[in-house]
Amino acid sequence: MEFIRDYADWFYLIGAVLFILTLRGLSGPKTAIAGNRYGMIAMAIAVVTTFFVADNPVVWMILAAMAAGAVVGIARARTVPMTQMPETVALMHSLVGLAAVLIAVAAIIHNNKLIELGPDLLAANGVAFHAMSKVHLFELFVGCFVGAITFTASVFAYGKLAAKKWAKTISGAWVKPVQAMIFVAMLGFGIHFFLTGSMTSFWAMTGLALAFGWVWIAPVGGGDMPVVVSLLNSFSGWAAAGIGFTLENNMLIVAGSLVGSSGAILSYIMCKAMNRSIINVLFGGAMGGSAAPTAAAGEQVQRNYRSGSADDAGFLMSNADSVVIVPGYGMAQGRAQNAVKELANLLKEQGVTVRFAIHPVAGRMPGHMNVLLAEADVPYEDILEMDEINSDFPATDVVLVIGANDVVNPAAKDDPSSPIYGMPILEAHKARTIMVIKRSMATGYAGLDNDLFYNDKTMMIFGDAKKVVEDMTKAINGTGH
Ligand code: TAP
Repeated sequence: MEFIRDYADWFYLIGAVLFILTLRGLSGPKTAIAGNRYGMIAMAIAVVTTFFVADNPVVWMILAAMAAGAVVGIARARTVPMTQMPETVALMHSLVGLAAVLIAVAAIIHNNKLIELGPDLLAANGVAFHAMSKVHLFELFVGCFVGAITFTASVFAYGKLAAKKWAKTISGAWVKPVQAMIFVAMLGFGIHFFLTGSMTSFWAMTGLALAFGWVWIAPVGGGDMPVVVSLLNSFSGWAAAGIGFTLENNMLIVAGSLVGSSGAILSYIMCKAMNRSIINVLFGGAMGGSAAPTAAAGEQVQRNYRSGSADDAGFLMSNADSVVIVPGYGMAQGRAQNAVKELANLLKEQGVTVRFAIHPVAGRMPGHMNVLLAEADVPYEDILEMDEINSDFPATDVVLVIGANDVVNPAAKDDPSSPIYGMPILEAHKARTIMVIKRSMATGYAGLDNDLFYNDKTMMIFGDAKKVVEDMTKAINGTGH
């Protein structure tokens, strides 16, 4: 296939443009399917072109690896439930990290072998010899250590999200000094390898980078894992880009950089929506692991709230002109999305305007609510982002909060002493009537009490999200409107 070889750079350019279109497509639900298709085509172009560009590829090995990967990948994609998506993504990042390490190791061993054989012998056999330049060594050093950190950190993130016993959160005064020692030693060996080419230093650096990935992520609380996964996504991209330089593969450099920068932007957006800095997430200890009480023991104040039944709530909603549904982590936890969709449809049939309001960090992963509502076939035009809907709350008859807590906590707007002060929220407190479905008065992820629940306009409806929503639907049906 001389043609592909001759025009490889052009094929890579087409692939790169398609990857950019992929990211653009994936930024909205309507274009996401097209975006996915661009990605598949781009990846196919990248793989086929690279196959023909390679010098003397061991064809059977490549095909066998691709076939094995395809079997595992297809089987996993067909069976993985939506709820296990975050840990699956974490596991995939670990593979990118491992690939980066293995490629770096292979490139180094290959180079050493060539040096061992010597230029004369190689020339006699028609092999051109050029020892690795310093720039190359530097790329390998970066690609390898970023890859190694990504590998173990992602394996830990997977274990944590999948609630595996071995993925234990570590804490204590010793953690930070140990992290710092491993990091400095890793850099030291890396620099020594870079300056002298010493293989002992290379192995030491790789081993320490693997250890660092683990001790770096292990102190982060379970609730913060989504931000970590997004950050590791970014890391896996940079590792791939580094390896792209080593292999002199432009496609890998472009694709790696796209993954690296988009992952970094997503991490930034998530942190901003949670009102935290990335440094605070990574080095500030766990948030949400344990609920922090808002009032010190002894000064606990009993506050009054109003609770009502699903029947009353159903009746009120069916007589409203407009209802805005705010889903949160509890809807995911209670797997209530289909029941919620049925309720929305029923209300619409009764002439009520029903819309969904989505907060960027509602739930536990980016786009969590969008994915669940899409799965339940809620029309995209009914789903509004925070900025689109916030100004509509004062004119909304009923806001129905389903298992959401922090993302509707007014303290973020009016209590400067609150840890979430400054975090953007859905302004549900401005609606004429507020209904909240949750199982108790317990706090949410941030461990904070929520004034919304004690508002005069609020009715608490206690129970599991799915059950309560189903009861509401039954009640509305029963009223015979
Ligand atoms: P949360 O503040 O965690 O509140 C969820 C509420 O749902 C809880 O108060 C809980 O109360 C209720 N709940 C749980 N299971 C339920 C069930 N089966 N039926 C009914 N209610 C149930 O959730 P949120 O408002 O969606 O906010 C998300 C939080 O997660 C934010 O603090 C955000 O910063 C954080 N976070 C998000 C992300 C991303 S990317 N989405 C990543 C990391 C952290 P009961 O126990 O009383 O039922």
